[in-house]
Amino acid sequence: MRINRIGLKLGAVIIALFIIILTFLGLVIDRVFSSFYHTKMKEDVQDLATHFASMAKSHDTSSEEMMQTYADFSNVSIYLIHLNTGDPISLGRLKIQDAEFLQPSDLAGLRAGHSLFREFAAQDGESYFVSARPVPEEGIAIYVLSSMQSMDESLRRVRSYLLLSGGGAFALALGFTYVVSQILSRPMVQMEQATRRIAKGELETRVEVRSSDEIGNLGAAINDLARDLQHYRDTRQEFFANISHELRTPITYLEGYAKVLTDGLYDSEEEKVQYLTIIYQESLRLSRLIHDLFELSKMEEGKIHLLMEWLDLSELAENSVQKVQLKAREKGLSLHYEKADIPLVYADGLRMEQVVLNILENAIRYTEQGTIRVRLSAQPESVHLIVEDTGRGIPQEELPYIFERFYRVEKSRSREHGGSGLGLAIVKKLMELQGGTVEVASEPGAGTRFVISLPTSGPA
Ligand SMILES: Nc1ncnc2c1ncn2[C@@H]1O[C@H](COP(=O)(O)OP(=O)(O)O)[C@@H](O)[C@H]1O
Ligand SMILES: [Mg+2]
Repeated sequence: MRINRIGLKLGAVIIALFIIILTFLGLVIDRVFSSFYHTKMKEDVQDLATHFASMAKSHDTSSEEMMQTYADFSNVSIYLIHLNTGDPISLGRLKIQDAEFLQPSDLAGLRAGHSLFREFAAQDGESYFVSARPVPEEGIAIYVLSSMQSMDESLRRVRSYLLLSGGGAFALALGFTYVVSQILSRPMVQMEQATRRIAKGELETRVEVRSSDEIGNLGAAINDLARDLQHYRDTRQEFFANISHELRTPITYLEGYAKVLTDGLYDSEEEKVQYLTIIYQESLRLSRLIHDLFELSKMEEGKIHLLMEWLDLSELAENSVQKVQLKAREKGLSLHYEKADIPLVYADGLRMEQVVLNILENAIRYTEQGTIRVRLSAQPESVHLIVEDTGRGIPQEELPYIFERFYRVEKSRSREHGGSGLGLAIVKKLMELQGGTVEVASEPGAGTRFVISLPTSGPA
């Protein structure tokens, strides 16, 4: 059997606590009982002595007989002695040699009229309470002896009950500890096994979460970890598949056209220039793709450094619009910028320009005819920059995915347009890093609207 350590430790602690408490409690109860019995018997013996002393005073002849009868029917012995000689007076079956409890020192006190109380251990090993009262009128003193045997027996019985119930409680604690430690450690052992399996790469492994306490939370955290790892592994595989596909396509072009040129398989100088242009454009695209990939991976690892400052988004938007104005005009699109008064925002100027340019380039790329409008709007706690186009739009079911790496709505056609499929992934990541958001709304055939939002509250 596997020794489960946490159960063992917990059990040891509980048992040790139990032993300490039980011992302490046992000692206290024992003390309480023995002092109770002791006091009670002491009082009884003293009361009896007083009672018999007053009986002796009454000169009643029957009183001696009554005392004798009482003595016979109880575990009490009664003795009379002469006050001045200290000699015992025989009372019924009293034998002189029994009177070993008499101590010469008692007499002085009794003669002076003091009562007496002490404990006395007889030679046969029995112990007694001894109480004496002087009766000066009669020239005698009355001794009452009460055996402690019954008290000792009662105490012994109490002690054995205490031991018995202590043992019972201990056994109960043992069982309880076993059950509790099993309840506590079983999920731990399960979690340990599960994490080992996850570490080995079995990422479908899940821990059974049965409670909502710390242990349950730990289990849930392990499940989250496994789920994240699984997601990470899946997206990484997909990512590598995408990358190799993205890289292979331009390289195939490069290889093909380079071969055509080296083999001299062209008819005119014009055709040659055409092939060379394709090679040039493909290599441009390749280098942009690699650049974007590096950027994105740096952002995802949190390795890019942002130069945050208070900046005027309207100026930035105007500049960006000017930069792409030529491209829009070449495509016959009209590009409008609507100036507005807005508060400053706290952001990285260069990165914000990259965001706005990416969105503007998309708008131009995916709009065949019509208008692209760029607006700014001040919100209660943020500034919105809105880019609207009258392009082909994006189907509703594709909207959730367009911010993913390499995601394109029309796979081959978008490629023809020269995008890397990383633009919006970069936009999203940059906005997140600057504490802003990006949202999209679109209607296929009518147009698309991107809204980027930055808080005006500044650094937290
Ligand atoms: N303004 C837009 N109108 C229509 N579709 C768009 C628009 N912007 C982005 N998209 C779609 O989202 C996809 C992802 O965009 P992006 O990440 O910038 O990659 P790409 O390199 O293809 O431009 C694009 O391929 C396109 O299908
Ligand atoms: Mg793009």
